[in-house]
Amino acid sequence: MRMAPAKANMESRTSPSNLGSVVSVRGSVVDARFNSHLPPIYSLLHAKDGRIAVEVLAQLDAHCVRGIALTPTEGLARGNPVEDTGGQLKVPVGNGILSRMFDVFGNAIDRQPAPADVEWRTVHRAPPALARRSTKSEIFETGIKVIDVLVPLERGGKAGLFGGAGVGKTVLLTEMIHNMIEHRKGVSIFCGIGERCREGEELYRDMKAAGVLPNMVMVFGQMNEPPGSRFRVGLAALTMAEYFRDDEHRDVLLLIDNIFRFIQAGMEVSGLMGQMPSRLGYQPTMGTELSGVEERIANTDTGAITSIQAVYVPADDLTDPAAVQTFSHLSTSIVLSRKRASEGLFPAVDLLQSSSKMATPGIVGDRHYLLAQEIRRTLAQYEDLKDIIAMLGLEQLAPEDRKVVARARRLERFLTQPFFATEQFSGIKGKLVSLKDSLDGCERILRDEFKDYPESALYMIGAIDEAKGKATGKPAVKAEPDSNTAAKGDPQPAASSNPKAGAGPQPSAEPKPKPEVEHAAAGAHES
Ligand SMILES: Nc1ncnc2c1ncn2[C@@H]1O[C@H](COP(=O)(O)OP(=O)(O)OP(=O)(O)O)[C@@H](O)[C@H]1O
Ligand SMILES: [Mg+2]
Repeated sequence: MRMAPAKANMESRTSPSNLGSVVSVRGSVVDARFNSHLPPIYSLLHAKDGRIAVEVLAQLDAHCVRGIALTPTEGLARGNPVEDTGGQLKVPVGNGILSRMFDVFGNAIDRQPAPADVEWRTVHRAPPALARRSTKSEIFETGIKVIDVLVPLERGGKAGLFGGAGVGKTVLLTEMIHNMIEHRKGVSIFCGIGERCREGEELYRDMKAAGVLPNMVMVFGQMNEPPGSRFRVGLAALTMAEYFRDDEHRDVLLLIDNIFRFIQAGMEVSGLMGQMPSRLGYQPTMGTELSGVEERIANTDTGAITSIQAVYVPADDLTDPAAVQTFSHLSTSIVLSRKRASEGLFPAVDLLQSSSKMATPGIVGDRHYLLAQEIRRTLAQYEDLKDIIAMLGLEQLAPEDRKVVARARRLERFLTQPFFATEQFSGIKGKLVSLKDSLDGCERILRDEFKDYPESALYMIGAIDEAKGKATGKPAVKAEPDSNTAAKGDPQPAASSNPKAGAGPQPSAEPKPKPEVEHAAAGAHES
């Protein structure tokens, strides 16, 4: 299955053949001895007719180098000849790579012939100089309500989707690709690092079906690849992105799933190379390695690279060194919460932990800014009230607080959205919502215009006007995850036809002490 890594690397060799021999092979770590000329750091060595590729990471003494294999090392033995290719790892760039899928060596992995008319460039490049960088603060609309309202993305910025296992990072990333790619004129590059091969294949098929492949390039080093390959595949994708930015002067959208796997691959490489681990077993050079990648994702006067990166958060612990390190590079951090996911409130964005540097009045405008602040305040107050509700029950709250609870719960539900990416298994058609509609909806909820509507009418809808159809039309199709707290005594027929509807945060409801009220209060606490 594996093809000879980067044949072109051998062709582009400039220096005369420099042969050495293998001294030792320990898993992915290969030591080699060169008697005449010691290969420099990052040189690519080939063994077994180019089937095995090794990147030099250290010079041990005047004649020996230590490298990490980018391919499996099966069959490599002590004494085998190794050849210094005289260059570094290279990938193809040019218009010929559009609509294609590559591995870390730049080999096409879409069962089509290798792209013609391409230039090979080394993946190790310096970030653009400070003087060449540009900053414009512009919003990048995604059509996803919760993101556009509370954590707007920056055009030419870096956004991270943080979350533990299975909270919806890949789904959200796929949805963003779907929403943005059709309306963009630029190039999109998808880089799969250390995730499932299945996901890469599915994405390729989806993009092909959607007809957006002609402006897309995919690069994969998935979880079946050796650590060296996963460690370098991000650089391969970046090199392609830089080509389109610097040579073609186009805007690039760089999508990475998952940047944590890059850090993890670095950790494996570091361990294999015998470096002492740092905090929590991470490599001592994690910060340098990550900034080596992140700093290359920059905007220059010729073009911009907008990047969206999924970041796996080990054990849902946002203080994990890998997550902390990544946070500091991003202009928007979207944190996904397991609690919201378990309540079925998708996209499971943690509304209070997520943040964006774009959410300032100078950039989004006064109305949007004040509205976002008001939403956050309402949700934060509800968060504070949850303990009291759990202990004393909802009816013990002051009427004003009960109004806050009703608003917050309606906001939470309005900020859910059916996705195109999940149409197959949710059965609800995906919706794209404009920023104006999202803001209007939130504003009207905050003005209590929907206080008489059942909460479920706001769940999984697009623009706010759909709530009317849902509340007055047919009975609620789908019971809400915690519908035992849905408003009771609601004037809307939908609520009365919902047998699960219990007492809820209905400000106008009589505060009658009933056993089921206790139950509802416990439900409102949400674990
Ligand atoms: N918007 C959504 N609507 C409905 N279901 C969703 C949504 N987002 C995520 N899910 C559910 O969560 C599951 C896991 O999502 P996803 O694969 O995106 O997680 P992940 O964060 O990428 O996980 P991993 O870290 O394992 O890659 C999905 O298969 C789906 O069932
Ligand atoms: Mg995933």
